[in-house]
Amino acid sequence: MTDNKKTATLNLNGESYELPIFSPTTGPDVVDIRNLYAQAGVFTYDPGFTSTASCDSTITFIDGNKGELLHRGYPIDQLAGKSHYLEVCYLLLYGELPSADQLEDFETRVTRHTMLHEQMHNLFRGFRRDAPPMAIMVGVVGALSAFYHDSTDITDPWQREVASIRLIAKMPTIAAMAFKYTIGQPFVSPRNDLDYASNFLRMCFAVPAEDYEVNPILARAMDRIFTLHADHEQNASTSTVRLASSSGANPFACIAAGIACLWGPAHGGANQACLEMLNEIGTVDRIPEFIARAKDKEDPFRLMGFGHRVYKNFDPRAKVMKQSADEVLELLGVDHNPILQVAKELERQALADPYFAEKKLFPNVDFYSGIILEAMGFPTSMFTAIFATARTVGWISQWKEMIADPQNKIGRPRQLYLGETTRDYVDIENR
Ligand code: SDX
Repeated sequence: MTDNKKTATLNLNGESYELPIFSPTTGPDVVDIRNLYAQAGVFTYDPGFTSTASCDSTITFIDGNKGELLHRGYPIDQLAGKSHYLEVCYLLLYGELPSADQLEDFETRVTRHTMLHEQMHNLFRGFRRDAPPMAIMVGVVGALSAFYHDSTDITDPWQREVASIRLIAKMPTIAAMAFKYTIGQPFVSPRNDLDYASNFLRMCFAVPAEDYEVNPILARAMDRIFTLHADHEQNASTSTVRLASSSGANPFACIAAGIACLWGPAHGGANQACLEMLNEIGTVDRIPEFIARAKDKEDPFRLMGFGHRVYKNFDPRAKVMKQSADEVLELLGVDHNPILQVAKELERQALADPYFAEKKLFPNVDFYSGIILEAMGFPTSMFTAIFATARTVGWISQWKEMIADPQNKIGRPRQLYLGETTRDYVDIENR
């Protein structure tokens, strides 16, 4: 960041405080308030962190007004169209696009860590068969912290690297095993001759009773979905991973915390909630009823897959996802998908409605992704597990950046206290 000696002046209680202003390479300036409490004895107040930069980072940049998303400077639409997920993983982790040799080495290292310790297979048996895959992922990823003592000294760059590769490599295997467990089918081992997306599809859909050929169309669509979900600046689950990791906790346990946060319907759980909403709407003629509910302050219903804390114009990932939905359904010969028609008409009607225009609400990454995933054969319960699989590289990249930052310190917010002031204990006979 550039300390261009600009300052912001805060006049408070007859005193004047000069707060340093730092400028980014792109985006809004920040006002450095780190010494505000020591100087002025006041806190800033920002529940939900709508105006707070929690860190500096070089990984992902979002311009909410332009609908721009850059990973290490590369626009998401170019990466989705020209790159592939493991190359994007390399870019997020190391900061530059790899050479052919670097990419081959990285893909080989990831491929050779895709198997899960045999002992961990027993963990799945502890869950009910109807457990949500996300519940299983939180549990199993958290349990990885018990298996890898040789990569938990996070002060050692090599152990950080090993933990990173292990998590990126094993997440699809764990997600696929969670899926297989909940549908009562045997686990399918990863194969080293398949690419990342093809391996995941095979582990999800192959059965011992017959050969399984990966459909290259589905593999490309799966890889693109992984790429579109890879990282997204300081969103709730990434901030969870950063805060958990700031205490020096085991990285596998911190990623499990990120999975837990992503599960919520306001965050990554929205892809599942959105498809369930579209199925509840069912037909185009019921759209006005649901739009009215979304606008009704008395009704807690919201259009799932709509709105975003940062994007106030459009979510560039949703645009790519919408194109992909059309392509995948056409290539799969799904010439008429009523739910896709409902989604497109819902988007059209909502965007034409002043309520959504004024509040700058429009489809986000979760609005169309579920339609593609359902067409690929996934149940809605797997949608957020797939999001978590893809976002692991984002969490890990942000974690590595934070741990390597010499300014890194434990995150410890304060509060606006509205409770009781000091009072004496009252014995029960006197209450
Ligand atoms: C993800 O942060 C990230 O980057 C997340 C993510 C990532 O890649 O990590 O992009 C992934 O989580 C995408 C978002 C998925 N969530 C949903 O689709 C759930 C539905 N959307 C909302 O709940 C909401 O839009 C949020 C949570 C996404 C954003 O909430 P904010 O920024 O806190 O906005 P808000 O709740 O203060 O809403 C502002 C206004 C409110 O009305 P008023 O109080 O001003 O009258 O807009 C309304 C809200 O009621 N509103 C909606 C709405 N979203 C916001 N009204 C109807 N339907 C909606 N979807």
